[in-house]
Amino acid sequence: MKRKRESGSREVGLKIGWICGEYFLKLKHLHYGYWTEGLDVDIVNLRLAQEEYVKFLLSHIPDGVKTILDVGCGAGHLAQKLLSTGYAVDCVSPSAFLTEQTRKSVADQSEIFECGYEELETEKRYDLIMFVESFQYIDLPKAIANTERFLSAGGHMLICDIFKKEGPQKGRQSGGHELAKLFRLMETSSFALVEDIDITEQTAPNIDLLNDALERVGKPVAESISDFLADRYPTVFKLVSWKYQDELEKIDRKYSGGSRTGEQFRKFKSYRLLLYGKPVS
Ligand SMILES: C[S@@+](CC[C@H](N)C(=O)[O-])C[C@H]1O[C@@H](n2cnc3c(N)ncnc32)[C@H](O)[C@@H]1O
Repeated sequence: MKRKRESGSREVGLKIGWICGEYFLKLKHLHYGYWTEGLDVDIVNLRLAQEEYVKFLLSHIPDGVKTILDVGCGAGHLAQKLLSTGYAVDCVSPSAFLTEQTRKSVADQSEIFECGYEELETEKRYDLIMFVESFQYIDLPKAIANTERFLSAGGHMLICDIFKKEGPQKGRQSGGHELAKLFRLMETSSFALVEDIDITEQTAPNIDLLNDALERVGKPVAESISDFLADRYPTVFKLVSWKYQDELEKIDRKYSGGSRTGEQFRKFKSYRLLLYGKPVS
């Protein structure tokens, strides 16, 4: 069968992240770890921290929920866990690679909608629509409008994700919608806020771990490859470095200079679990 290509740097990044995490650390999920007290912040414990995150999520699923739509389901392991807990679960997955993994995880127990949430079309309605670290990638007004549309009356929307805090300064870590903007938009919707839990403290250690891995593994490996290519193919190397100078500088600025730390994350970001309810009628 012909291999489907991933389009877009974000999906390629998620694919590489999942392949490396699964192979080296036996990770099942693409979301952050939830670092509980007593869990040593060490890369070898990331799998345990991700399991803590799942436990935390499951404990916030409202009573009475039977059907769930997992939007941006990653490799489908959360959906698999939810199915084994007794929920009926469908998934939304715009990534060809992650959809393939999800199919292995859920077999024929779930319908997988292979599109972005913005493009979803279905007659089905769900008791709970959840966004686990996927909300940041979806167009904000469209995410709210589609969730109002695809939820059953009295259903819930659960978001667990990174948001940008309001303030005069902007951090250099990308990612996340503006929290204040979400609150403003939700006020004009039919939803009522049921729960708002700040888990920035429990998730910030992931950034220090990622930074450490980049400094101690990513950078030296990239430098060695670059040295090898410069030595072996000097003319092509000079030409490529010149052509992609702006992009390479952008990458360097993004991943160096101490901007990707837990401290910066605490300052500029807020990781929230938000549960919203849709009225019964
Ligand atoms: C960081 S991963 C999180 C995956 C999974 N929820 C987990 O917790 O392991 C982000 C997910 O969002 C998905 N995604 C990206 N853009 C999306 C969109 N527009 N609509 C739906 N899902 C999207 C990606 O394919 C990926 O599955």
